[in-house]
Amino acid sequence: MTTQTWFITGANRGIGLEIARAALGSGHRVVATARRRQTVVDALGERDDVLALDLDVTDKPQIAAAVDAARERFDGIDVLVNNAGYGHLALFEETTDADVRAQFDTNVFGLMDVTRAVLPLMRAQRSGRVLNLSSVAGFTGFAMASLYCASKFAVEGFSLSLAEEVRQFGIHVTLVAPGFIRTDFLDPSSMKLGGTSIDDYAAFNDALRGAYLPMNHQQPGDPVRLAQALLQLAAGDAPPLRWSAGSDAVEMVDARLGALKAELDAARGLSASVDGDWVGAPAGQGGAQRSA
Ligand SMILES: NC(=O)c1ccc[n+]([C@@H]2O[C@H](COP(=O)([O-])OP(=O)(O)OC[C@H]3O[C@@H](n4cnc5c(N)ncnc54)[C@H](OP(=O)(O)O)[C@@H]3O)[C@@H](O)[C@H]2O)c1
Repeated sequence: MTTQTWFITGANRGIGLEIARAALGSGHRVVATARRRQTVVDALGERDDVLALDLDVTDKPQIAAAVDAARERFDGIDVLVNNAGYGHLALFEETTDADVRAQFDTNVFGLMDVTRAVLPLMRAQRSGRVLNLSSVAGFTGFAMASLYCASKFAVEGFSLSLAEEVRQFGIHVTLVAPGFIRTDFLDPSSMKLGGTSIDDYAAFNDALRGAYLPMNHQQPGDPVRLAQALLQLAAGDAPPLRWSAGSDAVEMVDARLGALKAELDAARGLSASVDGDWVGAPAGQGGAQRSA
C-alpha cells in the first residue's frame, strides 16, 4: 500500500479525530488541523507523521497557510477530509439571519474554501480524493434542523457537481453521509440551539428537544468504525459518489427514496403536461430547439 498524505479539518475530536487515528494506524501521514492546534497535539501527541496546524475553516489566510505548510512538509495532499462542521438545531422562525450565515460559513463556505485551496495540488498530481462530510440531513429534511439540513444539502449539490468537473484529473469526490454517530455533535460544546422562542411553537419545540437532546453521547453509530470503513473506501479504485454511514442512515435514505419515487409516480401525468408540443418533433419542426 502506498503511503498517502491525509489533510483533515476538525481533527481534534469526534469523527475527524478517529479518521486521523485510522489513517495513522494504516501508515499514512496526517495533516491534522483544528481551531486550536494544541487540541490535536493533546489527542495525537507530537510525532513525525503528523503535522498539527491551527485552522478555523472560516479563516481564509489560515487555510492558505495550512495548505502551504502541508505541501512543504509532505510534498502534496492525497486525501482531503472536509469534516469540520456543527449543527444549529432550532426551528427556523426561532433562528436569526446571523445564525444562517454562521452555519453556512462553517459547513458550506469553509468546506468550499478549503477545497479550492487543495484542488490545484491534486490537479498537478493528477490524483486525489476529496471526502466531504455530509449527513443523512443532506438527503432528507428534519424539523428543528432547517439550517443544518440546508447546509448539508448545499454540500451535496456542490460535491456531486465538483465530482463531474475533477474526475478527468483523477480526483474522486465522495460524500460521507452518516446517521447518528456517537460524538460531541449533540453536546452543548458543539451543537447550537435556537435563541428566541415563539409561543406558538412551544409544545413542538419541547417535543423535539425531548427527542434529540437525550441522544447526546447515546447515538448508535461508532466513529471508530466509521473511520475504518472510510479508510477502506478511500483505498478502493472506484469510490462511491455518496456513502451512507450506519444502518440508521441507510434506513432513512431508503425511506426518502421510496417517498420520492411514490411522489414522482403519482404526478407523472401532470409533470409531462408541461412539455411543449415540440417535444419529440423532428429537428426543423422545433424539436431541435428544445433545451432544459
Ligand atoms: N455525529 C453525527 O451524528 C454526525 C452525523 C452526520 C454528520 N456529521 C458531520 O460530521 C462532521 C464531524 O462532526 P462530529 O460528529 O465529529 O462532531 P463533533 O464531535 O462536534 O466535532 C466537530 C468538529 O468540527 C470542528 N469545527 C467546528 N467548527 C469549525 C470551524 N469553524 N473550523 C474548524 N473546525 C471546526 C470542531 O472543532 P472544535 O473542537 O474547535 O469545536 C470539531 O473538531 C460534521 O461535519 C458533522 O456535521 C456528524
